[in-house]
Amino acid sequence: MAKLEGVRACVFDAYGTLFDVHAPMRKLAAEIGPRADEISKLWRQKQLEYTWLRSLMGVHADFWHVTGDALDYALDAHGVEEPGLRDEIMALYLKLDAYPDAEPMLKAVKAKSQRTAILSNGSPSMLDAAVRSAGLERLFDFVLSVEDVGIYKPSRRVYRLAMQKLQIQDAPSVCFVSANTWDAQAAAQFGFQVARVDRFGLRDDNIPGRPDRLIKDLSELAALI
Ligand code: LAC
Repeated sequence: MAKLEGVRACVFDAYGTLFDVHAPMRKLAAEIGPRADEISKLWRQKQLEYTWLRSLMGVHADFWHVTGDALDYALDAHGVEEPGLRDEIMALYLKLDAYPDAEPMLKAVKAKSQRTAILSNGSPSMLDAAVRSAGLERLFDFVLSVEDVGIYKPSRRVYRLAMQKLQIQDAPSVCFVSANTWDAQAAAQFGFQVARVDRFGLRDDNIPGRPDRLIKDLSELAALI
């Protein structure tokens, strides 16, 4: 695959890209029951919808709040009412499994003297917890949260935040990496060079912006920069 030219920093989406958002429900599948997978997918979908809706409504609440609201919706919709389960699931969201390809990729990117950053919807404390519990804290130069701008992806203000913090003036110097189609596409439309991680076999959405490269997993990234 052809290299991306002129990359000066790699910026990563967190949830779904570095961290497995479906791990909590998988771990508690015995308590949740056979629909755990379906409930987890609905949770994730609602979580994202609520970020978009709140951004359009101009009523921001942080990602912890939104994640809890979405979980309540998904559990209610499936009639899951076990006491304590909600809090157990939320606690696991603070120590999500990192995908196994994340750490070796970050080391390989660092070995190429590239700066690394997370740029995520997550609140600072959620991101801090996830990064620490996965033991990845030394592998990032910056962990950036949308809380700095008070609006969610895919607002251009979020992608601009990464440029400001990295002190990069030209967007194509950033290699942005996301497994979320809409995030990868919006970042490409913003002007970043984008590698989308095709973890889930998803098609691009019919919105502006196309990723520059499609990679099967994160192990393919370092060769691109
Ligand atoms: C994030 C969401 C989009 O980490 O997964 O920003």
